[in-house]
Amino acid sequence: MAQLWGGRFTKQTDKSAYDFQASISFDKRLYQQDIEGSMAHAKMLAKQGILSDEEARQILTGLEGILKDVQNGTLEITSEYEDIHSFVEAVLTQRIGNAGKKLHTGRSRNDQVALDMKLYTRQEITQINGILKELLEVLLSIMEDNLDTYMPGFTHLQKAQPITLTHHMGAYFEMFKRDRQRLDDIYKRMNYCPLGSGALAGTTYPLDRDYTAELLGFYGPTLNSLDSVSDRDYLIELLAALAVIMMHLSRFSEEISIWNSNEYNFVEIDDAYSTGSSIMPQKKNPDIAELVRGKTGRVYGALMALLTTMKALPLAYDKDIQEDKEVTFDAIENVKGSVIMFTGMLSTMKFNKDIMESSAMKGFTNATDAADYLVNHGVAFRDAHGIIGRLVLYCQEKGKAIDELSLNELKAISPVFEQDVYEAVSLEACVNRRITTGAPGADAMKEVIKGYREYLRQ
Ligand code: ARG
Repeated sequence: MAQLWGGRFTKQTDKSAYDFQASISFDKRLYQQDIEGSMAHAKMLAKQGILSDEEARQILTGLEGILKDVQNGTLEITSEYEDIHSFVEAVLTQRIGNAGKKLHTGRSRNDQVALDMKLYTRQEITQINGILKELLEVLLSIMEDNLDTYMPGFTHLQKAQPITLTHHMGAYFEMFKRDRQRLDDIYKRMNYCPLGSGALAGTTYPLDRDYTAELLGFYGPTLNSLDSVSDRDYLIELLAALAVIMMHLSRFSEEISIWNSNEYNFVEIDDAYSTGSSIMPQKKNPDIAELVRGKTGRVYGALMALLTTMKALPLAYDKDIQEDKEVTFDAIENVKGSVIMFTGMLSTMKFNKDIMESSAMKGFTNATDAADYLVNHGVAFRDAHGIIGRLVLYCQEKGKAIDELSLNELKAISPVFEQDVYEAVSLEACVNRRITTGAPGADAMKEVIKGYREYLRQ
C-alpha cells in the first residue's frame, strides 16, 4: 500500500478496504494525461516563482523520463500504488528526490483527476470524430455509385415507395454527420481547464490559471472551483452522444441483418466480416452487425450508470465520482470498435442491385404514382386511391406487377389509363420525378452529394 496520505492516521487501512477504493487498476490508462497535466503545472509554478527554475527543470526531465519508460515498457504501473497520480509522484520523487515532492504544490488530486479526464475526453472525441468521418467516406462513395440503384423504401417494414440505394445510405450520412456535430459541441462546451481549483476552494498560492489553461490547449480556466472538481457533465454528454451513435449503428445493423437474410438477399456480407456455424455448414452469419446491435445496450447502460452516480451528490468532490472511469472507458472502447468494424463491413459488402430493383417492382411501390397518374388525368385523388386499391388486388390475384398488366386489363379497371401509364409508373420515373430537396430523384441527390463532398473536405 503506497499512498499520498497517512500522517493523521494511527492505524493501517484494512487491506481489502484499501483495495476496494484504489483506482490504479483502471486509471493507469490516464498516465499520459496525468504527466502532461503535471508538466504544465510545474511550468506554471516556475513562471510564478513558486518553484525555482532548477526544480522545475528536474521535474520536467523526470516526468519526461517516466512517460518514455512507461511507453516503452521498462516502467510498469503496478497496483502497489493507490492511483495513477500517486504512482507518478512516487516514481518522480524516487528518481529526482526533493524537487519531486514539490510538484503537488497548489494542487489536489481532485482538480488533477478532473483535468486528466478532460484531457482524455478531448483526445477521444477527436478520435471518434475521425473514425466517423471514415464511415461517412464509405457511405458517400456508395451514394455516388448508386444514383439509379432502385430499391423499395419501407414504412412499417412494408414496401412503400421506390427510392434508391443512394437515398437510403444518405439517411445514415445525415445521422452520422449529426453525431459528429454533437461531439464538436461537447468539445467546445467542456474545453475549460479545471487545474488550479485545488480540492474545492482554490488555493492561496499565486497560480496563473490562464497560463496553465493555455499550455494545455484549453480556451481558458473554469470559473468556479467547486464546480470544477465535481463536474462530470461533459462525460454524461459524451456518453449520451455515444449512445446515439450506437442507436444509429444498431438501426443500420438491423437493416443489414434483414437485407442479408435468405428471404431478402439484398446484400451479401463479405466473408471477411461474417462467421459460420459449428454445425450448420450452409450458414454465413452477420455477426458483426449483430454484435454492434448488441453492444448498444452496454453503452446505454454506461449513460444510465453515470447519471445515477452523479444524482444527489453533494458538492464538491465525493469518491462516488471515481465511478466515472470504468463505464466511460468501456463505452468509448466499444463505440470505437463498433464504428471501425461496421465501416469495414460496409465497405466490403456487396449489394445485389437486381434483387433490390425487382423487389421494388414486385412490391407495388409505384401504386401512389399510379394514383397520381389518374389524378393528373382528372380523377379525384380519393377515387383514384380506391381504383388503384382494386388494381393492386387484381395484380395480387394474377401474381403480376402493375406495369406487367396489359392496357386492356388496366382499362377494365379504369378507362382513364392510356399507353403512357407504363412510362409514368416505371421505377425510374417514380424516383426521378421526386426532386424536391432531400427526395430520392437523381438530380436532387446529386446536389446533396456535392454538399457532402464539400463537408468531408473540411
Ligand atoms: N481516484 C480518484 C478519482 O478517480 C482521484 C481523486 C481522489 N481524490 C480524493 N479526494 N480521494 O476520482
